[in-house]
Amino acid sequence: MRTLSAPDRTRHCSKEALMKTHSGTSWKINSRTGQATRVCQITDLHIPGGDQQASFGHVKAHVMRQLDYVRRERPDLLVISGDLTIPDACRPACEWLCDQLPAKIPTIVLPGNHDSPATLWEVFGPDRCGNQRFYYKRNLGEYDLVVLNTHTDHLPREQMDFLQTAVTERPAVLFMHHPPDLISDGFMARQQPLANHQQAAQAIRQSRVTDVFCGHYHNTAEIDCNGFQLHLTPSPAFQVSLLAHEFEPEAFEPCVRNIVIGPFGVRTSLATV
Ligand SMILES: [Fe+2]
Repeated sequence: MRTLSAPDRTRHCSKEALMKTHSGTSWKINSRTGQATRVCQITDLHIPGGDQQASFGHVKAHVMRQLDYVRRERPDLLVISGDLTIPDACRPACEWLCDQLPAKIPTIVLPGNHDSPATLWEVFGPDRCGNQRFYYKRNLGEYDLVVLNTHTDHLPREQMDFLQTAVTERPAVLFMHHPPDLISDGFMARQQPLANHQQAAQAIRQSRVTDVFCGHYHNTAEIDCNGFQLHLTPSPAFQVSLLAHEFEPEAFEPCVRNIVIGPFGVRTSLATV
């Protein structure tokens, strides 16, 4: 059983069933028809690149379970939101992941603090990386999808300006590695927060982003950030207590986040795989 731990102001995902929608292989179809878009998100894979990471020996099997679920669900889009390997920026582990990805499901890869954007670009290419800056938007029809790049542990000013100038036409969902909120006062918030999380959150509030999907904290949370909803997605590698001030691992099972975006708004839940 997966053990969830979160502060009082955190709400876990409801168990509501996802709306059943068309699941075509091209998410661009939905921008023409106005149908809902189905997205799966996985994050913080930390795929080991060699025998020296014995404690990460379970990770490839967990990632395969996640990708098998994605193949069965056939979403319009898969988003992998950073921290792909251990050790950091490990090219063989990136190449292993690239070989496992469902070929017919469009996939976005964005960098976390343990990734090299240059390596991701070389391995996954422009279709999955968007551009070499790793920040951009795409149209989903009634919503835009925005990707930001926080691999330096902060959100650069130019990306906050991008939110103000480019994310203005319609509501948007945002994918970034780091949460733009401390979430709790636990280990990750104390040791590895987004350095300018307050400024980042303010920039998001001043844009048309309604929902932020992130990882990095290796746990689950749903936070009302007074202007946008923050959805924290767990890792298939290890889970970290949100409450303990020191690093404290928790029992877990790998999960995939399901997101449905349509005329009704944004709905999301986690599926244990
Ligand atoms: Fe991270």
